Amino acid sequence: MNILVLGSGGREHALTWKIASSPKVDRLYVAPGNPGTSAIAENVAIKPDNFDAVADFVRKANINMVVVGPEDPLVRGIVDYFNTKPEFADLMVIGPDKLSAQLEGSKEFAKMFMQKYGIPTAGYLSVTAENIAEGEKFLEYVNPPYVLKADGLAAGKGVLIIDNLDEAKSELKNMLGGKFGSAGSKVVLEQYLDGIECSVFAITDGKSYVLLPEAKDYKRIGEGNTGLNTGGMGSVSPVPFYDADFAQKVEERIVKPTIDGICSEGMNYRGFVFFGLMNVNGDPYVIEYNVRMGDPETESVMLRIKSDLVELLEAAARRRLAGMKVEFDTRAAATVMLVSGGYPEAYEKGKVIRGLDAVKSSVCFHAGTLLAGSDVVTSGGRVIAVSSYGNTIFDALGTSYASIENISFDKCYYRTDIGFDLK
Ligand code: AMP
Ligand code: GLY
Repeated sequence: MNILVLGSGGREHALTWKIASSPKVDRLYVAPGNPGTSAIAENVAIKPDNFDAVADFVRKANINMVVVGPEDPLVRGIVDYFNTKPEFADLMVIGPDKLSAQLEGSKEFAKMFMQKYGIPTAGYLSVTAENIAEGEKFLEYVNPPYVLKADGLAAGKGVLIIDNLDEAKSELKNMLGGKFGSAGSKVVLEQYLDGIECSVFAITDGKSYVLLPEAKDYKRIGEGNTGLNTGGMGSVSPVPFYDADFAQKVEERIVKPTIDGICSEGMNYRGFVFFGLMNVNGDPYVIEYNVRMGDPETESVMLRIKSDLVELLEAAARRRLAGMKVEFDTRAAATVMLVSGGYPEAYEKGKVIRGLDAVKSSVCFHAGTLLAGSDVVTSGGRVIAVSSYGNTIFDALGTSYASIENISFDKCYYRTDIGFDLK
């Protein structure tokens, strides 16, 4: 079949890498893609948020399946766009419809869903300009630190965790006053969950599901999980504390009720579900849902899926996922992200990246790169994800760090301690 992947980051390069290995694929395209995807698929210069342009290409190239990488097109309704056009009745679009995408697009929607279906999560209150006083009472009532979340999509920046009560109250007003634009016109206040995070992924057809390998990502810029939040500085899979007992709790208390909820609500959801979890003393709680794969988790998770991903996605789209099994690679995988110096604040672009060809023992997924003449240059904060296999996550990390010795660009930065908390 002919497949089109939408997106241009490390996640999409990793998805494309895995899809490209499937014997089911005839032609594989990525829109807009990056220099990494162009080596294994055909890039097409279309922005994923231009649905009409995507549809034109789907027609022209006889695309059978569209795999949507990022959340934006999903929250904006790309699945509904195709589903409401009879000419695309046979097209498989991987992702949730606009209603189900609210599981990521609205923190309040996700909280209400979890409450309705008895899924463990932090206690919360939704606050708008109308009930600020109630919001302040909630903050006075709960223990610090205080968790404030813009309801809508804020490019991963809409969550504040604040130690001081007065500061939390004033940030609540700032958020409602437009600090994160319209995404913050509603703010979800949450109880703080003290634990260690991990990411769990499923593919669903709206009624059944299969689980993919779990992972852990490292969001902070600095060593020891310090400093500003980033899109993600590295990931590992498997997660040592994700043992059989914890995995069973996750499946029974979280994954099954979530998929049952999706089914009961009649949501048209055929795609990836990402459960952002907190392990609090051995019990899992949902911090957030995402309706797509994680980045940089995908760069590790794709290495660990042995089964044919296209077969799984096809089964999800055709609603016959029940009974399917996913075979995992028994090896571990790890990813270290090379970023532009200064990121996640201001950084320079256009730096020539050298040495990628010299990397033999790792896969270099392109995250923020461009071709400039014959050079690959930096074009974003996160630049290259260096992913490796190993007998353990620490072996895999060692291989990624050794591979990184080959790669250079001006002001390249990376964390040297990915996995430090799992030893
Ligand atoms: P989110 O965008 O909802 O994933 O939140 C971003 C990050 O904030 C998460 O990855 C957690 O590290 C942290 N976080 C969010 N909600 C909570 C909570 N209720 N308790 C503790 N940490 C949280
Ligand atoms: N790595 C977290 C995310 O993709 O949102």
